[in-house]
Amino acid sequence: MATPHLQGQKGDYAEIVLMPGDPLRAEFIAQNYLENVRCVNTIRNMLGFTGTYQGIPVSVQGSGMGQPSIGIYSYELYHFFDVKSIIRIGTAGGIAPEVKLRDVILGQAACTNSNFAMQYQLPGTYAPIASFRLLRAAAETAEALNLSVRTGNLFSSDTFYDDAESLEKWSKMHVLGIEMESAALYMNAARAGAEALCICTVSDCPLRRESTSAEERQTGFRDMMHLALETVKKLSE
Ligand code: HPA
Repeated sequence: MATPHLQGQKGDYAEIVLMPGDPLRAEFIAQNYLENVRCVNTIRNMLGFTGTYQGIPVSVQGSGMGQPSIGIYSYELYHFFDVKSIIRIGTAGGIAPEVKLRDVILGQAACTNSNFAMQYQLPGTYAPIASFRLLRAAAETAEALNLSVRTGNLFSSDTFYDDAESLEKWSKMHVLGIEMESAALYMNAARAGAEALCICTVSDCPLRRESTSAEERQTGFRDMMHLALETVKKLSE
């Protein structure tokens, strides 16, 4: 059953999906880490693949940038393709004082300046959180791999270029990193009775005007990929 944005049929996606923002990253993961790979989406070049990792079925699907985009793809995966768990693998800008370039962050929760939650018409503020099962599995896997990670709050912004320059304020509340997708993903997961987690590598530290080179981003990405795939393996045990 195709949707407006995903051409696959039911069963084309595994129960667990890794979601990089960049569809070419999805292709890279499929080509370099998965076996028995088939392409399951090409609509708008938002590439999606399904294969196996050490025998475990897993899909990788690009999400695009921003909450409207990941909102669409994650909604369709949860509601029309019976996906149970989505692990976003992305980049974030480090904003807490101790966060350094190339750090890996597990997004325990996600603050946002988005109106995404308005659709639920809640009589208060909703706190989008990661699935504890996924978060615990990722934290334990990182420990087993001897990979140090930071676990805490993210800020999912609707703006990359922000006139209000509000990052200092989020940093004061000890938010670890800024990115643009997790809050919508966590809300879609909650509404669908499903699971989500965001793992980010720190590609830049905007408050200190630091950023990684393309090559460093690739290395950081490999650590995160390894963590995400080993987490998938742990979850299947
Ligand atoms: N802002 C928003 N999203 C990001 C950033 C940033 O500085 N770095 C990586 N993703």
